[in-house]
Amino acid sequence: MIRSVIKGIGAAKPERLVKNADLEGIVETSDEWIVQRTGIRQRYIAGEGETTASLGEAAARAALDNAGLTPDDIDLIIVATSTPDNTFPASAVDIQARLGMTHGFAFDMQAVCSGFVYAITTADLYIRGGMAKRVLVIGSETFSRILDWKDRTTCVLFGDGAGAVVLEAGEGRGLTSDRGVLTANLRSDGSHKQKLYVDGGPSSTQTVGYLRMEGREVFKHAVGMVTDVIEAAFSEAGITAADIDWFVPHQANKRIIDATAKKLELPSEKVVITVDQHGNTSAASVPLALATAVGDGRIKQGDLVLLEAMGGGFTWGAVLLRW
Ligand code: UT7
Repeated sequence: MIRSVIKGIGAAKPERLVKNADLEGIVETSDEWIVQRTGIRQRYIAGEGETTASLGEAAARAALDNAGLTPDDIDLIIVATSTPDNTFPASAVDIQARLGMTHGFAFDMQAVCSGFVYAITTADLYIRGGMAKRVLVIGSETFSRILDWKDRTTCVLFGDGAGAVVLEAGEGRGLTSDRGVLTANLRSDGSHKQKLYVDGGPSSTQTVGYLRMEGREVFKHAVGMVTDVIEAAFSEAGITAADIDWFVPHQANKRIIDATAKKLELPSEKVVITVDQHGNTSAASVPLALATAVGDGRIKQGDLVLLEAMGGGFTWGAVLLRW
C-alpha cells in the first residue's frame, strides 16, 4: 500500500525576538505570571516585510533542501494558516509563485491551531489517492497581526513563525512498522465558536478583527478532547502509549501539554516542548516543535511519532506516523 513518508523538514522564525520582560511595558503582566501559567519565555514577532507567505516560503525552502528536492519535484502545496497575507488568493499560491512553480496546485487550509494536523491528513489522502506524489505541507502564521495588544489575556500568549515538511509516496505493507502516516483522526465542534474566535472578517465586519479567547474555558476542554482523539488513534493502530517514541503536541501552554501527557501516561522524556521558545504559533507550532526535535537528533528514522493539536472552532486531531 501507499504510505506518505516525511522526506524533509524546515522551519523559519521572524528576526525580532520578544522576551516576556519586553511585554511588561506594553500590558500589565510579568515574566513570572507568563512562565508560571503558560511556560512561555519568549516569542518571535514579524517585522516589516515578514509575512505568512515570506515565512512559509523560507520554511518550505529549508524543508526542500533537507529532503534534497527542488520545487520542480512538488505536485501540491497545502498551507495551514489563519493569518493569510490577503483574504485571497491563498498564501499557498503566493508561496507557489515565490518558489517559481507554475505546475501543480496549491491551497490554504483553515483549522486554526489544528491546521497542520488537518493539512498532513489531507496531504496523506491526496498521496494515497494517487493525485500527488510529493506534497509540501506548511504551517505558517503571523498571529501578532490579529492580536489586541491592549488585551493581556491574549497578547502574551502568541508568536509568529512557520514550519514545513515534504511528504512523499512510499511503499508500505499496511503494518504499524511501515514508515509514513499510519493513522489520522480529526474532530471539530462549531458550537464552541465563542470561546476562541476573531471578531472580524470579510463577510461580517469587512475588517480583519482581533483574536478573542476565553482562556480558562479553552483550557477546560483541551485535555479531554485531545486525549480522547489520541486514544482513538491508539485503538485504530492497535498500539498503546508505551509504543510511542515521541509525543509532539500543539505548543499552546506547557500546563496543557503536561496534563495531557500525564493522562496518557506518556513519560516527560518523550514529550517535545518548544512553547517556551516561540509561544503559541497556531498552525506553525507542531512543525516548529518537530523541526526542533529532528534538528537536535531526538527524532530519528523509524521512530513512532504522535502529533496532536487543538484550537479555535473547536477543531482538534491526532496523527500517528513513523519517521
Ligand atoms: O491554541 C489554541 C488553544 N488555546 C489554548 O490552549 C489556551 C488555553 N488557555 C490557557 O492557556 C490559560 O487559560 C491561560 C494561559 C490563557 C490563562 O491561564 P489561567 O490559569 O486559566 O488564568 P485565568 O484566565 O484564570 O486568569 C488568572 C488571573 C486573572 O486575574 P483574577 O481574575 O484572578 O484577578 C487574570 O486577570 O490572571 C490574570 N491575568 C494575567 N495576569 C498577568 C490574565 N492574563 C494575565 C497576564 N498577566 N498576561
